[in-house]
Parts: sequence; C-alpha cells; structure tokens
Amino acid sequence: MQRTLLITGGAGFIGSHVVRLFVNKYPDYRIVNLDALTYAGNLENLADVKDKPNYTFEKGDITDEAFVDQLFTSYQFDGVIHLAAESHVDRSIMDPLAFIRTNVLGTAVLLNACRKYWQDSMEGKLFYHVSTDEVYGTLGAEGFFTEETPYDPRSPYSASKASSDHLVMAYHHTYHLPVIISNCSNNYGSHHFPEKLIPLAIRNIRQNKPVPVYGKGENVRDWLWVEDHARAIDTIFHKGRTGETYNIGGFNEWKNIDLINLLCMIMDKKLGRAPGTSAQLITFVKDRAGHDLRYAIDATKLNKELGWQPSLQFEEGLEKTVDWYLANEEWLQHVTSGAYQQYYEEQYQKR
Ligand code: NAD
Ligand code: DAU
Repeated sequence: MQRTLLITGGAGFIGSHVVRLFVNKYPDYRIVNLDALTYAGNLENLADVKDKPNYTFEKGDITDEAFVDQLFTSYQFDGVIHLAAESHVDRSIMDPLAFIRTNVLGTAVLLNACRKYWQDSMEGKLFYHVSTDEVYGTLGAEGFFTEETPYDPRSPYSASKASSDHLVMAYHHTYHLPVIISNCSNNYGSHHFPEKLIPLAIRNIRQNKPVPVYGKGENVRDWLWVEDHARAIDTIFHKGRTGETYNIGGFNEWKNIDLINLLCMIMDKKLGRAPGTSAQLITFVKDRAGHDLRYAIDATKLNKELGWQPSLQFEEGLEKTVDWYLANEEWLQHVTSGAYQQYYEEQYQKR
C-alpha cells in the first residue's frame, strides 16, 4: 500500500462519502475508518465498500487515548482526515458537554497521537481537520465568510469546532505538525441523518407530518452537495498547502422557507400529489436559541488555488436527494427507530 490513512467519523453523513470516494479512487491507499457508531454513525452507509480489500473499519472513541495510541501503533498512519464530531446544533443546545468532549478533547487526542508517532519525521504526513463555517459566527444581509474572517462562534457546537480548529493550528505552530483545515457550509445529499433540516423535512412530508420551520424561516444557509464536499476534501488533502485554511461553499444561498417551499414542490411531483399539497404541512415553530441569521462562504481561494468548484445546481441536487430518500425507506426506518423518537419528542413537543 502506498499510504495508510485514518479517516475518523467515516460512518456518518459526510464521512461515508469521503470514505467511499477514497476507497474507490485510491485502491493503493489503505483506508482505516475509525468511528464510535454513535446515533449518527451507521455502517449501512458504507455497505457498498465494506468488502473492498483496501478498507478496514475500527469501532472506537476518539477520546479514548489508549485505543487511539494502539491504533497508531498497529497501522502507522501517514495521514489523518478528521471528521468525527458531534455535529447537530440543536443537540449542542440540549447537551453542550458531549460536544466539548468529542469535538475538543477528541481532536486533541488525535493531534497528540500524530505528534507522538510522527515526531521522527513529519515528511509526507498530514493532519486534515474538517470544520465548519459556523466558527465565523453570523452574517447580516451582506458579505461573505473568507479565510480571514475572525472567529465568532455562537452555539456550543460552533464553539467546540472553533476550539478544535485553534488546537489544530496550535499544534502546527508549536510542534510543526503538518495540518490543513477546511471550513465548509451546509451539506445535503444521501445518507443525511434526519435530525437536520432537509432530510427531516423530506421524511415528514412523506409521512404527512408537520414540517417544523424555526422562527419565520428567514435564516439563510449556503447549501453544498455532499459529494462536492468530499471532492473538495480530496483536492485539498492532495494539493493544499500545509498550515492553510480553505473555505468550501456552494455559492448557493437559500432562506429556509424558500428551500422548504421548493422541497414541497419537488415532493408533490414525486409523490403524485396536487401542487400545493405538501406546503400545507409547513408549521412555523419557536425559534432556535441563538439562531445564526445567515451563513455564506466565499470559496474563491479554493477555486483560484486548487481549481475546485461545485458541480451540481441546487434544484438538481435536491431532486436527487429526494429520489434517494424515497428509494431508501428501509435506511430511514432503521435510523429513526428507537432513540430518534425520543429525541424528536424532546426537540419538537414544546415548540
Ligand atoms: P455526522 O453527525 O453525520 O457524523 C459524525 C460521525 O462521527 C458519526 O459517524 C459518529 O458515529 C462519529 N462520532 C461521533 N463522536 C465520535 C467519537 N467520540 N469517536 C469516534 N467517532 C465519533 O456528521 P457530519 O454531518 O457527517 O459531519 C462530519 C464533520 O463535518 C463534522 O466534523 C462536522 O463538524 C463537519 N461539517 C459538517 C457539515 C454539515 O453540513 N453536516 C458542514 C461543515 C462541516
Ligand atoms: O454550516 C455548516 C453546518 O450546517 C454544520 O457545521 C453542521 O454540522 C450542520 O448541522 C449544519 O448546521 P445548521 O444548524 O445550519 O443545520 P440544520 O439542518 O440543523 O438547520 C438548517 C437551518 O434550518 C437552520 O437555520 C435551522 C433551520 N431548521 C432546522 C431544523 C432541524 C428549521 O427551521 N427546522 C428544523 O426542524
């Protein structure tokens, strides 16, 4: 094998797309997927690559120092792509400490392992940290987040991600660890856990349940097709400059209410419902605490330096996403049985 890469969080939404891309595109890389299989991790997401000879799954927690140490001894990784995280803002409002544990402590454990195992030679090594645009805080009606925008996280989730970004850069400056960070906007596509807006709305529309829109639905997000994010990670991992940050975004801003109306139109068409039927399910509910108004990424640096750009128009990507969910009801049933019901009750009953 030419390289041995550790991908953390590979059983989650974005991680599974990254693992699939690397396993298929680089048959001479050994890909080791480390995932704790929390509620958000699901090995069904990787059913199509599980038997590939260059793929190995390791179940474990990134905060478990002894386990991570033993993994580095066994595999002698020369690269890490770190996606494992608690990733849902609403859950971070309910239980911030879980986010600090995984996102801050877990990242520090991985950085320490790299520092220890790569101390003799950092040549050819890379710790690639996958982060979020939410570290930059919120925008008003104008402007974009660039790589120079000061950090201003405003939820426990974004604060924990910002802390992890700072630790990554601190290890770079202090120990010369070769690192890269990318900060990406909202992803959408297949295998997205239905606690996030788009898959939750698809599921509820399918089941004729209310579609909860926080506040007045005026918050804006910049949506990116998840496979374009995975492609960007591949490009940055192989061609990016060490010590740099790259912003990744879709140049694709939508107000939540406009997005949900578009989704309702697509669902009406796919389900053979009369136009306007699904939109009747839209229900405005109590706003998210500290709800950031607008995110919008300026991905010019990534485009100019490394030639990456998004491949899909949003309408096309949204249709493909809906098609995937309608064709994979069994997947949806599996991930929403049990603990999901309790989460849903707690999150939405009082709104
Ligand atoms: P996700 O919640 O779908 O998946 C997270 C994965 O990490 C799961 O498989 C889970 O089992 C695993 N995990 C959680 N805690 C762990 C631990 N302690 N040890 C080992 N594994 C653990 O998340 P996602 O949406 O795929 O996001 C992946 C990464 O990308 C995160 O770091 C997130 O901050 C970042 N990100 C996400 C988005 C987005 O729109 N979803 C956008 C930008 C950046
Ligand atoms: O910007 C990148 C971030 O995008 C990632 O770092 C996070 O991991 C990811 O979860 C996502 O965060 P958001 O909070 O933007 O995503 P979410 O899907 O939870 O919400 C999108 C928007 O929709 C947000 O303005 C809140 C709103 N919303 C969400 C839910 C779940 C609703 O109106 N109703 C809902 O039921």
